[in-house]
Amino acid sequence: MTCIAHLSDLHFGRELPSIIDGLLTSLDELQPELIIISGDLTQRAKHREFKDAQAFLNQLKQPYMIIPGNHDLSMYRLWERFMYPWRKWRKYISTDLEPVVQKNEFTAAGVNTARRIGFYLDLSRGRISQSQINQVCQVFKQTADDSLNIVVAHHPFWLPQSSLNRSLVGNRDNALQAFSEAGVDLILGGHVHLAYVEPVNGMIVSHAGTTTSHRLIANQPNSFNVIKGDRHELVMEQMEWTGHAFECVEPNRFMRTDRGWQLQ
Ligand SMILES: [Fe+2]
Ligand SMILES: [Fe+2]
Repeated sequence: MTCIAHLSDLHFGRELPSIIDGLLTSLDELQPELIIISGDLTQRAKHREFKDAQAFLNQLKQPYMIIPGNHDLSMYRLWERFMYPWRKWRKYISTDLEPVVQKNEFTAAGVNTARRIGFYLDLSRGRISQSQINQVCQVFKQTADDSLNIVVAHHPFWLPQSSLNRSLVGNRDNALQAFSEAGVDLILGGHVHLAYVEPVNGMIVSHAGTTTSHRLIANQPNSFNVIKGDRHELVMEQMEWTGHAFECVEPNRFMRTDRGWQLQ
């Protein structure tokens, strides 16, 4: 049985030091096989924020995989945004914006859905291209039958009723169909700062809230998720910040059936 910790939207620049300490304590207790961080590592993509984020990543005792979010692109330094969008990410965080991690029990493929510009005014929106869909599907063609197949992207492929004012990732329908056919089990994301988990097209879409920042939406505490199990059965735990520690509040159990993943 594997154990994966899923963090998101750390937003260095707006981070809460006491929660970072609590998070590191929880991760020490959990000893996850992998820590997945699904974007918005910084608040305004500044050097200082990336340096602080880098120092945090260096403290992690378990392996981690990380992808960018829309906040990791500069919003106001337009020259940087359009000419060198990922220069700081590559300098401080990783040269690989779409990492793939393969372990015995799972494969996780990262997708960078943040965009410099699109056919809309809201620059926070994201998109997955056809070539990115193909690239992800190609990864899962090579995985073993009992390997859990995980896609990690910042922007949402499904939204709960309370968040329908937010935008889904562009080209979502094509991606969901292709991912389902390619045997994807889990799609992990963030962006909404809301924790939720939902079966979609036979897969499980799971989002973590903002794990360490004070950019909270109403009634939503800081949170991260823990994924335990294998390709037959998964327990998705939501860990909420209670003021002094992260505590598990809402485990959901899923079984993989002939019709895909079903909530038990
Ligand atoms: Fe965010
Ligand atoms: Fe975001």
